Amino acid sequence: MKKKVLATIVAAAMSFSLLAGCGSQGAAPAAEAPAAEAPAAEEAPAADEAPSEDAAPAADGDVITVGFAQVGHESDWRTASTNSVQAALSKENGIDLQFVDCDNDSAAQLEAVRNFIEQDVDYIVIDPIVSTGWDTVLTEADDAGIPVIVIDRTIDDSDKYVSWVGSEFTNEGLAAGAWLKAYAEAKGIKELNILEITGTTGSSAEIGRTTGFHKYVDSEGWNLLDSQTGDFTQDGGQKVMESYCKSYEGKFNVVICQNDNEAFGAIDAMKAAGVSYGVDGDVIVISFDACTAGLQMVLDKEINADFQCNPLQGPDCLKLIQALKAGETVEKQTFMAEPWYVSEDILKDITYTNNSGKEVTEPLVVVDAATVEAAY
Ligand code: AHR
Repeated sequence: MKKKVLATIVAAAMSFSLLAGCGSQGAAPAAEAPAAEAPAAEEAPAADEAPSEDAAPAADGDVITVGFAQVGHESDWRTASTNSVQAALSKENGIDLQFVDCDNDSAAQLEAVRNFIEQDVDYIVIDPIVSTGWDTVLTEADDAGIPVIVIDRTIDDSDKYVSWVGSEFTNEGLAAGAWLKAYAEAKGIKELNILEITGTTGSSAEIGRTTGFHKYVDSEGWNLLDSQTGDFTQDGGQKVMESYCKSYEGKFNVVICQNDNEAFGAIDAMKAAGVSYGVDGDVIVISFDACTAGLQMVLDKEINADFQCNPLQGPDCLKLIQALKAGETVEKQTFMAEPWYVSEDILKDITYTNNSGKEVTEPLVVVDAATVEAAY
C-alpha cells in the first residue's frame, strides 16, 4: 500500500475512535522484563538500508520497518521502557526495528527522526525528550506519509501524530500532593518544609508532576524551600541533594524526587550528610516510577511513598501498528493504569480532584515482597 494512501486512512482513523483492546486504562500493569543494563546507543542506519532479511514477515508477507527514537538510558524506568518496546516490536512479530538511544539530547532526537523519514520507514515511534519543538519534523513525517506514534511523554506543539500512549503525569503529581496532605494530618505533622528535585526540564513528565504537586503546595501553604533539576538521573539527584543538605541543614522535612533514580541519589547524599529519612527518620521521601529497586526501598521504609509511572508500552505500540496497517481506527490517547505505593498501613486511600476536574478516590497499596517481585 502506498504511504500516502495509508496516511489518508490514518488521518481518517484519527477523527474516529477506539481500537478495541488497545487501551491500558484500568488494566493492571503486566510484570515484564526486569530492569537490565542500559542499552547501548545504536547508530541510525544509512538512509538506503534495506530491512534486515531475518525479520519474520507480517501476516500479509510484508516486513514492517519501524524507527524508534528513545529518550536515552537515564533511569531504571527507561531501561524497562526500551526492553518493553524491543520485545514487542520484534522480528518474531514481523518488525524490523531501528532503535536509536538519543542520550537525552533533543537535537539528536530530531536528527534520528529525520533519518527515519529519509529511510522511508513504515512507522516512527517517538518518546519525546521535551514536549515542544516538534511541529516542523512531524510535518515532514506527515508529508512523507509516515504515521508517527508517541509513547510515554507528550508532544504539546503539534498534533501530527496518530496516537499517544503514556502516563497522566499531572495526576501523579496531584496524587503525591494529596497523599502528603493526608499523611501529614495522620501523623500530626504541622509544618512541611519541602525540597524538590525535578526531572528533565521541559519534559512533560517534569511539567506534569510539578504542576500537580504545586497545586497542593499553593493551596495548603506549604513551604517549598527550593526546586532544582536532577535530570531524572541518580547522579543528578545525589548532586542536588548534597548541595541541599549544606544549604538547608536542619531546615527540611520532605524531599520529593521526580523519579526513583533521583531518590536513590538523594538518599545516598542524606546518608553521607547524617540526615535521617524515611518512615523512621526526620525527612519524608516521595518518589515516582515504582521500579523494582524503588519499591524495595518502599518495603525497606526508606521511601515513604512511590507513585507509579508505567513504562510497559511495547504491547500497546505493537497493537497500534498492527491496527494501522490493517486500516483500523485507533484512539488518539491511551493512558496507562498506575497504582500508588506506600510503606505504612495508615491510610487506605486518597481523594483528590484529578486533571480532568473529577473527584476521585484511589487506593494506596502497601508494598510487600510480592509487590516488589511483580514490579518492572
Ligand atoms: O518519562 C518518564 C520518566 O522518564 C520517568 O519517570 C523517568 O524515570 C524517566 O527517565
